[in-house]
Amino acid sequence: MEEHARHHERLLIVDFGSQVTQLIARRLRELKVYCEIHPYQKVTDAFLEDFAPKAVIFSGGPDSVTREGSPRPPARVYDLGVPILGICYGQQVMMQDLGGAVKGGEGTSEFGRAFVEPTEERIDLLNGWFLDGSHREQVWMSHGDHVAAIAPGFKPYGTSPGAPFAVTADLERRFYAVQFHPEVHHTPNGRTLYENFVRDAGFSGDWTMGAYREEAIRKIREQVGDAKVICGLSGGVDSSVAAILIHEAIGDQLTCVFVDHGLLRLNEADEVVSMFRDHYNIPLIHADESDLFLGELEGVSDPEEKRKTIGRLFIDVFQKHAGEVGGAEFLAQGTLYPDVIESVSFSGGPSVTIKSHHNVGGLPEKMGLKLVEPLRELFKDEVRALGRELGLPDSFIGRHPFPGPGLAIRCPGEISTDKLEILRKADAVYIDQIRKHGLYDEIWQAFVAILPVRTVGVMGDGRTYDYACALRAVTSVDGMTADYYPFSHDFLGETATRIINEVKGINRVTYDVTSKPPGTIEWE
Ligand code: XMP
Repeated sequence: MEEHARHHERLLIVDFGSQVTQLIARRLRELKVYCEIHPYQKVTDAFLEDFAPKAVIFSGGPDSVTREGSPRPPARVYDLGVPILGICYGQQVMMQDLGGAVKGGEGTSEFGRAFVEPTEERIDLLNGWFLDGSHREQVWMSHGDHVAAIAPGFKPYGTSPGAPFAVTADLERRFYAVQFHPEVHHTPNGRTLYENFVRDAGFSGDWTMGAYREEAIRKIREQVGDAKVICGLSGGVDSSVAAILIHEAIGDQLTCVFVDHGLLRLNEADEVVSMFRDHYNIPLIHADESDLFLGELEGVSDPEEKRKTIGRLFIDVFQKHAGEVGGAEFLAQGTLYPDVIESVSFSGGPSVTIKSHHNVGGLPEKMGLKLVEPLRELFKDEVRALGRELGLPDSFIGRHPFPGPGLAIRCPGEISTDKLEILRKADAVYIDQIRKHGLYDEIWQAFVAILPVRTVGVMGDGRTYDYACALRAVTSVDGMTADYYPFSHDFLGETATRIINEVKGINRVTYDVTSKPPGTIEWE
């Protein structure tokens, strides 16, 4: 368990490998409930005893409980005397463990939108549901197997055409089990279900940013003492909030190192340097290593190889410059909770690796530094709330996320300085358009990707043969799932015209309308 959590009421999410487990945590944190996600293999009897959850949630997962050896929670969890909510695979596990039956095979799967209707007897878990005239609620189903018989003590409280046991509960033991995913956006009233669940479990909502800040500062001072700390600054919100928080805790014992890998956006390096050095008075080393990075990336076109090359160089370069500080014992990182969960899940849990995030896995032990990671319990929007709490301006806090590997992953195929130059300019025009139209804050992330194709065009009376680019803009809560942003055709037309007119080297503009999943936000 994260040390910090000991002072809070805790909810445990047992992860069976669903791609949307993090969204459960998001919903709960919004309700000011502290929760942690742990892969089922780690949840042993001793773990349960130490964690002492006030409630437990079983996530969904890709496996089938009908398979011998499929993931299970320890039997002890049912004896804790705390409420449990099972979701999808979690429902099926609970039913099978407690004496019900689960069926797989033909006719048991259901994917996508479904509608749940209440049974005659009402249940508090569904308070606030079925209030509109239709007396039914939209939910999101995504399951291969289904529950054929519920366990003794359970009753059905909601049914759907494909899932007769869409909502079941044993009210005496306060065990609840639902077949659908209340955490996803497509179950519009899902938040209410979580709210009812945590209310039933007696959570007071003690997870606030003011409390977090004070505790984090105390914890940093305690951990660091009078030692020196170095912090890798990317200019993004996470590392900046981490640096400012640590600076508030230990002042000039902190030195920041900003590695410019040559893959930053237009004017970004200057802005970062002036903000930290001049505005916040935080000691800063500006390491311009663009030649090294771009040199090593020459000829590399595979996305994973790019990510790994950048990650490796970053560590080398950082190490070199950190050495200049002399005597630092600690390394600060803006690691967020999703990084922590993903890295656990990737190595120990059942879900698959989609991309190697360059800041995941941390710097290798060979650096011989201890880590200070004051944000490792937070989600992105909680980091923003903390930034606000620390007095950072909204314009800075609201900045769209920018990935560690920078423009490299927005330049599919081989990278070149020419392409990067074109990309920077196009991106600047695009973001300017978005700001001018007042859309920046509505969008989670927007950027241009330069495509590895050149296309024929005609400008004036001449033929052009230039690069095509794709505009990307998505809405999202946490980057885990995303929808493309529905720009007006006027906006898209005007932006395309501006980019083609103002950016030499691009003669065709496309708009990426893929959601995540099945796409990802970045192109690589
Ligand atoms: P994807 O492309 O996986 O991106 O849908 C989800 C979010 O993560 C950001 N991203 C990264 N952030 N280091 C980071 O700090 C990385 O290696 C990295 N890769 C993707 C991406 O910009 C989006 O916000």
